[in-house]
Amino acid sequence: MYQDDVASVLVTEQQISDKIAELAKQIAADHPSDGTKADLVLVGVLKGAVMFMTDLARALPVPVQLEFMAVTSYGSATSSSGVVRILKDLDRDIAGRDVLIVEDIIDSGLTLSWLLKNLASRQPASLEVCTLLRKPDAVKVDVPVRYVGFDIPNEFVVGYGLDYAERYRDLPYIGTLDPRVYSS
Ligand code: PRP
Ligand code: MN
Ligand code: MG
Repeated sequence: MYQDDVASVLVTEQQISDKIAELAKQIAADHPSDGTKADLVLVGVLKGAVMFMTDLARALPVPVQLEFMAVTSYGSATSSSGVVRILKDLDRDIAGRDVLIVEDIIDSGLTLSWLLKNLASRQPASLEVCTLLRKPDAVKVDVPVRYVGFDIPNEFVVGYGLDYAERYRDLPYIGTLDPRVYSS
């Protein structure tokens, strides 16, 4: 049972949904739908961003289109190398479009800095980032992140899309794992 593996709840379900409402308000204010511009394109990064992306899309009072990318970074499982390979690309061209990358967490920032360069080369009209969680190391990397849900301590977190060995993504909150889980 998951409950036995979770050491503490870092962000509750209620805190997540309150924050999403707040972020949605900010994003809608920056991207008013005036009927002349094409819909904002949300680019979710699989798989971690799925829960956040779908809740954010439903909280936004402006129409959005959903696109997904799946990427994997080479190197060891524990440290991101910054060398990223595309497993699944966008289905559509984003040239001239307003694009918002949606991430669950920015840890080293390497995935995102690669993604920003990659998507910028496709000439979107605008390119911004919205992340639910951000860790301290990410602040050191110079990646511009317009919307941040929570700045969290440097702890391994799971739930609400975030996994450990593909588990715990389906938890409705963000929690820390009991160290016993890693060592077993
Ligand atoms: C995790 C997380 C972010 C990325 C952040 O994805 O969802 O996408 O790592 O790490 P970074 O800032 O150090 O690059 P992961 O590669 O584990 O894939 P997943 O989303 O499928 O779990
Ligand atoms: Mn991810
Ligand atoms: Mg992962």
